[in-house]
Amino acid sequence: MDGISVRDLRVSYGPKVVINSLDVDLPAGKVTTIIGPNGCGKSTFLRAVGRLVPSSGDILLSGRDIRSVPRKQLATRLSMLPQTPVAPEGILVKDLVGRGRHPHQSWFNQWSSKDHDVVAEALALTGSSDLAEQPVNELSGGQRQRVWISMVLAQQTSVMFLDEPTTYLDLSTSIDVLNLVRRLNTDLNRTIVMVLHDINLAARYSDNLVVLRGGDLKAEGTPADIISSTLLQEVFNLTALVREDPATGGPLVVPAAPGNE
Ligand SMILES: Nc1ncnc2c1ncn2[C@@H]1O[C@H](COP(=O)(O)OP(=O)(O)OP(=O)(O)O)[C@@H](O)[C@H]1O
Ligand SMILES: [Mg+2]
Repeated sequence: MDGISVRDLRVSYGPKVVINSLDVDLPAGKVTTIIGPNGCGKSTFLRAVGRLVPSSGDILLSGRDIRSVPRKQLATRLSMLPQTPVAPEGILVKDLVGRGRHPHQSWFNQWSSKDHDVVAEALALTGSSDLAEQPVNELSGGQRQRVWISMVLAQQTSVMFLDEPTTYLDLSTSIDVLNLVRRLNTDLNRTIVMVLHDINLAARYSDNLVVLRGGDLKAEGTPADIISSTLLQEVFNLTALVREDPATGGPLVVPAAPGNE
């Protein structure tokens, strides 16, 4: 089980500072969800911690500086579903998902029957087995999203970063994916870090929430401890009631009626 500890993280795009001195813990074996308004730096945070964009500060993966872990080795421990992944032109679904196996392969340990089985299982877990022979570019938005999630599953890492995994998915498929994420966490001890916009789903499926605004940490803790009308107003400029979710007993955000915002 891997956990991540981030201290004094700073990320800029050219002269533009997006994250300025952020301290966050992403605990091992937990589901942590990052919430915050559009443009506040959620994707940038995941990309920086996953070493896809340069940053300064400390990023420790189970105590070891993540920048000292060779990239291929890191990819056997940490996988990333980007917010807008781009598939190579013409690639078939089974080959895209197969790319999730690359970090586990080498010149003396190439494609094996195990890789084949892992890919088949990853496709089955997202209900995408029947898409295996299709070109990725010919799929619907939701089908494509499920295939990308399969690719991340095929990577079999102890830490999974999922940037808006429910984008394009209908509500029932979103819940299927979040239940799958929860199962990966409880059954396989995976450490999950997601970005979600639906605060109610975030509250249901997360052990911890990390709330960002303007690249700063606004709150961190269990959904029950931190979700409040005041926080929603401060962070999202949203007028909302917070009630008890009749299905879970956790917090349920109910935006004010039109005209009462
Ligand atoms: N490659 C880039 N080059 C320059 N600026 C960027 C780049 N990527 C993001 N930004 C800027 O950094 C800020 C944070 O962007 P980021 O994508 O991290 O936000 P986000 O919280 O993920 O938003 P969203 O909810 O819309 O996905 C924004 O102001 C954005 O315009
Ligand atoms: Mg984003």
